[in-house]
Amino acid sequence: METIHIHTIEEQLLRVEAHIGNTPLIPIRGLHHNPDVTIFAKAEWEQLSGSVKARAAFNIIQQAIRSGQLTTDKVLLDATSGNTGIAYATIGKKLGIHVTLLLPENASKERKELLQSLGTELILTSKFGGTDEAQELAAELAKKHPEKYFYANQYANENNWKAHYHTTAEEIFSEVPEIDYFVAGLGTTGTFTGTSLKLKELNPAITTVAFQPDNALHGLEGWKHLETAIVPAIFQPEAADRIIEVSTEHAYQIIAEVYRNDGIRLSPSSAANIAGALHVADTIKSGVIVTILPDNADKYSEVLQLIRNK
Ligand SMILES: Cc1ncc(COP(=O)(O)O)c(C=O)c1O
Repeated sequence: METIHIHTIEEQLLRVEAHIGNTPLIPIRGLHHNPDVTIFAKAEWEQLSGSVKARAAFNIIQQAIRSGQLTTDKVLLDATSGNTGIAYATIGKKLGIHVTLLLPENASKERKELLQSLGTELILTSKFGGTDEAQELAAELAKKHPEKYFYANQYANENNWKAHYHTTAEEIFSEVPEIDYFVAGLGTTGTFTGTSLKLKELNPAITTVAFQPDNALHGLEGWKHLETAIVPAIFQPEAADRIIEVSTEHAYQIIAEVYRNDGIRLSPSSAANIAGALHVADTIKSGVIVTILPDNADKYSEVLQLIRNK
């Protein structure tokens, strides 16, 4: 007789958790000339769903299941066109949880097809309203149908930054306890906030540097220009010792250079994090800088094209 294994949701969560985090920390060489400065970056595409957002999505889902807010009878709802959506969809599929995402109609065709192939329902919002409008409409929908939806709300959900507090920071500190600077951009701000708060608890001497794109019309998908975007509710300004600016041009220069030196295909957001680390490197005599590479170029056809033409 065939044995049927029925796993409890906790067992399923454990199985998924085995594929989240514990990403490699790689040295970034050849981009600056000071031998006393070392830069390390965490290759976050090396986990389930191919990006840093697996950490936040998993923690948001896990905590919602444990608190009873999310069951297989409900639908996880959020606004995201990018990595968080792919992470919700991938994890949701494994756990039997339905996912509905609101995203601007101008999100790429490849992105929409990928999300749909994972069984996600998509609600398209106006391209003129961007992700801010998608967020507002998701909140309205969740308010109208509380019995149907669990509203994950990554911009306001504490379990977003706590994912990084409990995993990303611990991983970094156990691998490079000599870290002097942590540098990262601000998107939902979960990665920067959670990692910085924990690193500072582990060693108050660590300096945390956030950055934002240098103008509103930047090409650094994932990072927010704070003056012109809705500032996420989870952002804790005190987590940053300094906030600097990074240009799209510098990030694209780094994509080309890193590909030439190491064959690594960085996304614009990962290259921007390295640009931030290089800004810090320019201001110090010696030290160890750690940053994050949120994803690679696989989902960015314009970057793949640029690399191909090099
Ligand atoms: C490619 C990419 N970079 C950066 C970020 C921003 O990370 P965080 O939301 O943790 O600030 C995201 C988040 O969606 C992303 O997808």
